[in-house]
Amino acid sequence: MPEIEIRNLEDTDIGDIVALDETIGGAYRPEVWERRIGYYLRRDPECSAVAESDGRVVGFMLGEVRSGEFGLEEPAGWIEVVGVDPEVRGGAIGRRLAEAMFEAFRRRGASSVRTLVYDSVPDVASFFRSLGFEPEPLTPLIKNL
Ligand SMILES: CC(C)(COP(=O)(O)OP(=O)(O)OC[C@H]1O[C@@H](n2cnc3c(N)ncnc32)[C@H](O)[C@@H]1OP(=O)(O)O)[C@@H](O)C(=O)NCCC(=O)NCCS
Repeated sequence: MPEIEIRNLEDTDIGDIVALDETIGGAYRPEVWERRIGYYLRRDPECSAVAESDGRVVGFMLGEVRSGEFGLEEPAGWIEVVGVDPEVRGGAIGRRLAEAMFEAFRRRGASSVRTLVYDSVPDVASFFRSLGFEPEPLTPLIKNL
């Protein structure tokens, strides 16, 4: 397998991430990713990471440090989106992306990292548990409008 480099997200990664999202989810959504990647780059390009192999992005993890939201005063890193090419899963790319994010979050003053996972996607929850994440006594609430 070619060498995998973990580096910060760049705006030129949009095309590869759109393709990766289509591989994972089956939908071609260029506008969604243009907006989303623009947001994370404006917030803090060092708090989102990609895995590059042979000039192509094969994994990405997007996040940011937030504080003062939902009554959570301490700065905390948030991992909000993750995707690894199914062809290279199981090779620690997800773990390496997360470790790069943890390091960036620490540099920004965060002492914890949060994420939210749907119960209907148990694989992603297992992945985060393998990285040491545990359930937190917070309840997500939703109301349909
Ligand atoms: C979850 C995901 C990021 C894991 O990536 P990966 O590169 O295969 O993960 P790694 O190889 O780094 O695995 C790290 C740890 O998580 C565990 N893990 C990873 N995938 C797992 C799974 N499906 N079930 C159980 N455990 C899993 C591994 O066993 C490993 O644990 P270990 O280090 O203790 O052995 C990847 O499967 C994925 O992208 N899933 C789809 C995510 C998605 O739907 N995103 C939507 C937006 S595009």
